[in-house]
Amino acid sequence: MYQLLSAAFLVMVHGMAMDNLKVAYQWQMLSTFVYPTKTARLTAVSNKEYIPENNLPLGLEVYEDRLFITVPRWKPGVAASLAYIKLSDGDVAPQIVSPFRIRADRCGHLWVLDSGHVDIIEETARELTNPKLLIYDLRTDQLLRSYTIPDDQLDKNGSLFANIAVEDNDCENSFAYLADVLRPALVVYSYQAQKSWVVQHHYFNINPLAGEMTVGGITFHWKDGVFGLALSRQDSEGYSTLYFHPMTSFDEFAVSTKILRNENLAKNQTANFHEFKRLGSRGFKGQSGASFLDKKSDVLFFASVHLNAVVCWRTTNPNYTTNPNYTKESHSRVFMSNETMVFPNDIKVDANNTLWVLSNKLPIFMYSRLNYNEYNFRILKGQVADAIKDTACDSKMVVNKKIVDAIKGIVFNKDKQSPSSSEKRHNYIVALLVVLVAILLLR
Ligand SMILES: *[C@@H]1O[C@H](CO)[C@@H](O)[C@H](O)[C@H]1NC(C)=O
Ligand SMILES: *[C@@H]1O[C@H](CO)[C@@H](O)[C@H](O)[C@H]1NC(C)=O
Ligand SMILES: *[C@@H]1O[C@H](CO)[C@@H](O)[C@H](O)[C@H]1NC(C)=O
Ligand SMILES: *[C@@H]1O[C@H](CO)[C@@H](O)[C@H](O)[C@H]1NC(C)=O
Ligand SMILES: *[C@@H]1O[C@H](CO)[C@@H](O)[C@H](O)[C@H]1NC(C)=O
Ligand SMILES: *[C@@H]1O[C@H](CO)[C@@H](O)[C@H](O)[C@H]1NC(C)=O
Repeated sequence: MYQLLSAAFLVMVHGMAMDNLKVAYQWQMLSTFVYPTKTARLTAVSNKEYIPENNLPLGLEVYEDRLFITVPRWKPGVAASLAYIKLSDGDVAPQIVSPFRIRADRCGHLWVLDSGHVDIIEETARELTNPKLLIYDLRTDQLLRSYTIPDDQLDKNGSLFANIAVEDNDCENSFAYLADVLRPALVVYSYQAQKSWVVQHHYFNINPLAGEMTVGGITFHWKDGVFGLALSRQDSEGYSTLYFHPMTSFDEFAVSTKILRNENLAKNQTANFHEFKRLGSRGFKGQSGASFLDKKSDVLFFASVHLNAVVCWRTTNPNYTTNPNYTKESHSRVFMSNETMVFPNDIKVDANNTLWVLSNKLPIFMYSRLNYNEYNFRILKGQVADAIKDTACDSKMVVNKKIVDAIKGIVFNKDKQSPSSSEKRHNYIVALLVVLVAILLLR
């Protein structure tokens, strides 16, 4: 892993009422890779091993003092396909060809999904190796495991592994869900069993009506199936809900990992079909790429391609029941900017409740030319609580089920005179406020 100089300027953008993210880093061009010597760098540039304008950051992950970014080999001349920003003693990792996405789990493992492709958007496009899953120990930066996705789990005509979610409820028994956007399919990998299996479902497919997208004045057509993956906190049985959507789609879907983790059931479309649920639609032009679910607030964050925005939706009601309403009305814009949020391409929340978003103008890079006199790539950040303040995703509630249950008792006891439902709600809110104030005062 090379270090990327954070000569990238730290820029503060003065906060607006709602758009509570600020630019942490921005680049005109990824021209700040560190080479061991000046000569090494000059050599790399002169023999075109390194062509700065062909380097575009795509995936993002934050673990302790390091911010990792991936730089896929879209075009020739990519200096390092996995880089990080803070200074540390990283090893060069030549095994990595072209990772799209990475995920650091809470067990200290960095999961790197290597698509195995090089020069993806060039005529010289080729697959160098089968796609691979590489797992690093972040404490030692040693490669713990390299898992090659077997041939029979790939589409011979082309598979493109573009996204990963890791279910790390149990560090000894974690699972990775890998999205093959082209097939489309999910590959489920069991860390314990060291094996994987393919899951296919109609809901992974594209909606042909959603194929046209416009970003930064450029209209293009994509047919990317299942892409956005986000895992909820675990339920009482230890399973999460996987929220997912194809990129070329307006809809959001969900399935329990209880289904995906059961190899036989996961592979049997007849038996599992109805276990996959359609939650609802984001509406026309509601295509979305990356998504991430913050397990502490239960808020799902997702990118909106057309709006140049990050949007949120609460997956649960204040009483921890699943929110059944996935509608435009229940969504809120977290941050929108035609300047700094053009093509939000990865979203993560770190262990300190910081929301991180990487935006990179990808369609302009792919179909036109980036103007290297202006900033093209940005990493924005903000606290989750600030980001969702005053939005539909803000519960304003203390996250503690015991308290909520206690309050329910108070409300129900008061209900004997059968007040109207709006009075009930009023009582409920008053009771909540009283308890919240009491809790704050008692602390
Ligand atoms: C979170 O904060 C602690 C203490 O300030 C720090 O040591 C740690 O590196 C931070 N982690 C991340 C992911 O920022
Ligand atoms: C690959 O493409 C060919 C021709 O389009 C088609 O007949 C075949 O079924 C495809 N194979 C797979 C595995 O999708
Ligand atoms: C798939 O599930 C169906 C219905 O539950 C069952 O009848 C069938 O035998 C299963 N197929 C396989 C290959 O297990
Ligand atoms: C939880 O809240 C939702 C709406 O906020 C309500 O429809 C549902 O009945 C509640 N469930 C329980 C168990 O209180
Ligand atoms: C879901 O939306 C409907 C229609 O807007 C509304 O009547 C209902 O209360 C909502 N339910 C919850 C649990 O928010
Ligand atoms: C931002 O871009 C969107 C989509 O291109 C457009 O609808 C909107 O009017 C623009 N907003 C501003 C403030 O320029």
